[in-house]
Amino acid sequence: MNNSSARYDRVQIILHWLIALVLFFMIGLGLYMVELPKQSELPPGEESVRAFYFLMHKSMGLTVAMLIILRVVWRLTHKAPPLPDTVSKWQQRAAGLVHGAIYALMLAMPLSGYLQSMFSKYDTKFWGIVLPRMAEADKAAREQFTEVHEILAFLLIGFIVIHIAAAIKHRLAGSGVSERMSLK
Ligand code: HEM
Ligand code: HEM
Repeated sequence: MNNSSARYDRVQIILHWLIALVLFFMIGLGLYMVELPKQSELPPGEESVRAFYFLMHKSMGLTVAMLIILRVVWRLTHKAPPLPDTVSKWQQRAAGLVHGAIYALMLAMPLSGYLQSMFSKYDTKFWGIVLPRMAEADKAAREQFTEVHEILAFLLIGFIVIHIAAAIKHRLAGSGVSERMSLK
């Protein structure tokens, strides 16, 4: 079989690029918003925009979580097309490990984000709708999940960098791998 022409199916390709786009935005937004001054740090009369961006980050994070769950379910029920034989065994294993880590982090990011939000004194809103409170505010638990969320974010960034470097390398080498996920 000439499997160099095998491609991911349409659903996987669309979800890959849609989620990638939102994640780039979410990572940028997350890193930007935590640097914004709190209301208490501003001179009287000036209004903090921190809450606005935090609310946007949370709503968008929960929305992309639904797309990520859909993608994982789709992937578990639909195989990835086999890689061309020109890709060595160790590279196939490395790709599998990196993809697995990215999937795990894509699920863990919104979960840890939701948990820190759940333990905070502020309500969690989803595009303006207040979600039911699942736990009492707990400062220590919130701080712990904030740290987990931050560490996982940097791990995700690291794996995405490796992933993109591999994709560029394959594109330059003309191995046919990069075309498997292209929108055409
Ligand atoms: C895939 C989804 C997500 C990604 C990629 C993401 C990414 C990030 C990043 C990069 C930061 C900055 C970390 C730092 O430097 O401290 C951050 C902070 C934050 N995220 Fe997310 N996030 C996601 C989902 C969520 C969700 C679903 C929620 C809540 C419902 C959330 C709540 C927060 C909060 C409250 C902070 C600020 C933490 C602080 O006070 O320092 N995130 N996120
Ligand atoms: C936030 C950014 C991204 C994330 C989270 C992400 C995630 C993933 C995951 C999890 C897979 C494995 C698919 C599977 O087998 O189920 C994958 C495959 C792929 N991605 Fe990405 N990706 C991102 C950005 C990119 C970018 C920017 C490129 C191109 C420069 C790219 C190119 C590819 C290619 C070519 C494949 C197919 C690899 C193969 O056939 O084994 N990705 N991506």
